[in-house]
Amino acid sequence: MPQPYVLLSAAVSLDGYLDDTGPERLLLSGPADFDRVDEVRAASDAILIGAGTLRTDNPRLLVNSPERRAARVAAGLPEYPLKVTVSASGDLDPKAQFWHTGGEKVVYTTDKGAKHLRTLGLPTGPAGVDVVSVGPDLEWPAVLDHLGDVRGVGRLMVEGGGRVHTQLLQQGLADELQLAVAPVFVGEAEAPRMFGTGAYPGGPTSRLRLVETRPVGDVVLIRYVPTVPGTGHAVSAADRHWLALACALAAECPPSGTAFSVGAVVVAADGTELARGHSREAGDPVAHAEEAALAKLDPTDPRLASATVYSSLEPCARRASRPAPCARLILDAGVRRVVTAWREPDTFVPDATARNAVLAEEGAVVVVVPEYEARAKEPNRHLVG
Ligand SMILES: NC(=O)c1ccc[n+]([C@@H]2O[C@H](COP(=O)([O-])OP(=O)(O)OC[C@H]3O[C@@H](n4cnc5c(N)ncnc54)[C@H](OP(=O)(O)O)[C@@H]3O)[C@@H](O)[C@H]2O)c1
Repeated sequence: MPQPYVLLSAAVSLDGYLDDTGPERLLLSGPADFDRVDEVRAASDAILIGAGTLRTDNPRLLVNSPERRAARVAAGLPEYPLKVTVSASGDLDPKAQFWHTGGEKVVYTTDKGAKHLRTLGLPTGPAGVDVVSVGPDLEWPAVLDHLGDVRGVGRLMVEGGGRVHTQLLQQGLADELQLAVAPVFVGEAEAPRMFGTGAYPGGPTSRLRLVETRPVGDVVLIRYVPTVPGTGHAVSAADRHWLALACALAAECPPSGTAFSVGAVVVAADGTELARGHSREAGDPVAHAEEAALAKLDPTDPRLASATVYSSLEPCARRASRPAPCARLILDAGVRRVVTAWREPDTFVPDATARNAVLAEEGAVVVVVPEYEARAKEPNRHLVG
């Protein structure tokens, strides 16, 4: 299983805080938004909080609506999503409501934390607690790999707190941000903020993409997705979003019985979309997607040197219809990172993948994200079966 889709969810004050410094949890949302959150929980395979939130808020983290729980069961899912927490220290209260309500739980921890947690007498059995050590340090990729591979989690809702949100966003691992902005000021410098200090992908000039705003009672739900490409072979959440867009563009190509339908997007290092294209664009029967996208750009654009090309199908390294194949166009444009969903099959060119090694041979990083292969193939089914 690939890593789960990671959705960061929080209610935040107008001045950017998650809570105040008082002993009681500050309720930032109203009833309508709590119900919306319940709906998002019900649509998730797992819900994660950091140990800080577990200690401060003592949440139960349940799907509260009986109808939503019944719908999960009718769909063959467990009544409650898996509950997940992360703690390096293992210093958690065994009486916390988290352990004693809902269905299965898992705590990701360090070797040292696991030793401590195993002495606490946490619940066992079908709704018990699985203590998973990911090694001497708690690294997020290991947690997400385990959730995907071992727990089969496809959709992970992260409900804070600030440290967890900050790490996942800064490490390029968050697929979506859902903020409920409440008409409240906290005004305390020591209160926990939604996002902390440190380096965020692309720096302060890069922008997330807004996908939705919606009033929910007196709060406003804002949904953003990340845009900044990963670096090298590391796949960021934004890489997956751009590759999904390339696959969607492939579906817009005029059909052909003799050529693939492909979509491509060129994205700058700060997450700005520079150009997009698709096969047979603008009535050109032999246009390739990467070619169509690159043709829209000034070849002297300095952003190309650090840009990423997303292509639903591996860029061609040989073609009869034009003097230069797309791999050559990409290299000549100065682009050195290509993310693709599908290695070229031998449908039109024998041994296509071996021949396509040209990008890597000339110093470009080629990242294949196979979880999108089915989407890339979909508009080409008549060619590849
Ligand atoms: N408004 C909202 O929607 C909302 C939602 C959730 C939480 N909150 C608020 O957020 C506050 C808590 O946030 P927080 O930032 O203090 O805590 P947090 O993010 O919930 O948890 C931080 C803790 O998680 C563990 N952890 C996280 N990442 C780790 C890593 N990479 N390696 C090792 N351990 C890691 C550590 O536990 P150990 O210390 O055990 O090692 C760390 O102390 C509370 O005030 C809560 O009310 C608000």
